[in-house]
Amino acid sequence: MAEPTLPIRVWDAPTRLFHWAIVLLLGASWLSESQGWMTIHFASGYLIIALLLFRLAWGFIGSETSRFSHFLKSPIAALRHLAHLHRREPDTEIGHNAAGGWMVLLMLVLLAVQAGTGLCANDDGATEGPLFSYVGKNWSDWLSRIHGVNFTLIQIAVLLHILAVLGYAVLKRHDLVRPMVTGQKYLPVGSQRPVLARPWLALVVFAIALAVVGTALEVL
Ligand code: HEM
Ligand code: HEM
Repeated sequence: MAEPTLPIRVWDAPTRLFHWAIVLLLGASWLSESQGWMTIHFASGYLIIALLLFRLAWGFIGSETSRFSHFLKSPIAALRHLAHLHRREPDTEIGHNAAGGWMVLLMLVLLAVQAGTGLCANDDGATEGPLFSYVGKNWSDWLSRIHGVNFTLIQIAVLLHILAVLGYAVLKRHDLVRPMVTGQKYLPVGSQRPVLARPWLALVVFAIALAVVGTALEVL
């Protein structure tokens, strides 16, 4: 008989909004570059930087399930988790699992490298990132190449990420997508509810992140 479950909010709204905003903005960054709409490319890049600053702070002061200390477990724990991947067992995960946590960190780092190199990039034409004159043409050319290569790495990571989510659905019958949309997961009765931070705190942190990016761009 199936174990009784009850709905528990595992993801706060700010983390979910962060996720789907990154998905949209990454698409916008790719589309705008491929169409030569560089003003939009820069704008979506700046928003991604503000979101990453927010997520960095939220990883320390946000809800329990969004904190790095909560989801970055030892590599051994990650391997142990992967070894059980084929087992069909009830979903008891409150937040990212031990392997997923490292994938999340990797994706955040790749996004940061993408935005950071973009700031220094140039296209041998009219388009130069705001840090171009600080790094000079030689470094900028090199960082532009990293910007291109890193985007391929992001595409590979996203593909693996989506395959992993599909894998959980098929192999384990765990629906991870719905919780990333609604925040709620059906977990066994008696599961510990995670401590969720107040949404207004996220608004303050995001406003500060936007102000930091805006001020930096004015100074540059
Ligand atoms: C551009 C594409 C994407 C990127 C860059 C991306 C990135 C991320 C990141 C950074 C997280 C961690 C969230 C956090 O803790 O802040 C995450 C989690 C998650 N993403 Fe994505 N994502 C992408 C597309 C998708 C898509 C298309 C789906 C749905 C099929 C999806 C489903 C999920 C789910 C379910 C989680 C939570 C996994 C868990 O339960 O541990 N993502 N993603
Ligand atoms: C973080 C999200 C970003 C994504 C996904 C992204 C993606 C891309 C891609 C795919 C290219 C084409 C690379 C190539 O053809 O080899 C490109 C070029 C470029 N991007 Fe970004 N970019 C991002 C952020 C930024 C930012 C924040 C800036 C500057 C403010 C920027 C400035 C540029 C410039 C100047 C180029 C032309 C250089 C070149 O052709 O290599 N990008 N970007």
